[in-house]
Amino acid sequence: MGKVKKEILISKPKIDDRVQRLADEISRDYEGKELVLIGILKGAFVFMADLIRCLRIPCEVDFVRLASYGTGTVSSGNIMITKDIETPIRGRDVLIVEDIVDTGLTLYFLVDKLKEREPESLKVCVLLDKKERRKVPFEAEYVGFDIPDRFVVGYGLDFNEMYRFLPDVCVIEEN
Ligand code: XMP
Ligand code: MG
Repeated sequence: MGKVKKEILISKPKIDDRVQRLADEISRDYEGKELVLIGILKGAFVFMADLIRCLRIPCEVDFVRLASYGTGTVSSGNIMITKDIETPIRGRDVLIVEDIVDTGLTLYFLVDKLKEREPESLKVCVLLDKKERRKVPFEAEYVGFDIPDRFVVGYGLDFNEMYRFLPDVCVIEEN
């Protein structure tokens, strides 16, 4: 990419408001329970950090790192776990936290893998959802924002490891 133009798609105040409401919903749904939150590295770390501080239920936190062969902005579908969680999840209530669902391949794979460990329940919370890009049927139980098919960065999301630090979710385009 040469010169890049950035445009705010979702501002930090809007994200903050939505994250609080998602956390309220999750806190209500899991009242009296103890959650294990599993963030997908690296993209979800900012969202995860904000989300847990808005929850009103006790939770444990762990992270998984996945890799898909092939680079660039398109998932190839050959996914593997390169860093597993360290928390046993059998019989636990588990919520996967992810920055964005696009083709659905990543979460389809992870949900399948974690189900083998027989959690009591397993749900998914994503900040962003590009529904029109699905290659496999996948629906997250908690969705922050539906977004159009544009490449986004910021609030943890990157383009070649750049822009994760931006507070807003931005669209980038080559000039
Ligand atoms: P799938 O296609 O498996 O992809 O649902 C999910 C992963 O793809 C990456 N992704 C993006 N990353 N801006 C990003 O920074 C985007 O617009 C975007 N779309 C997909 C992301 O790593 C996510 O975990
Ligand atoms: Mg990611």
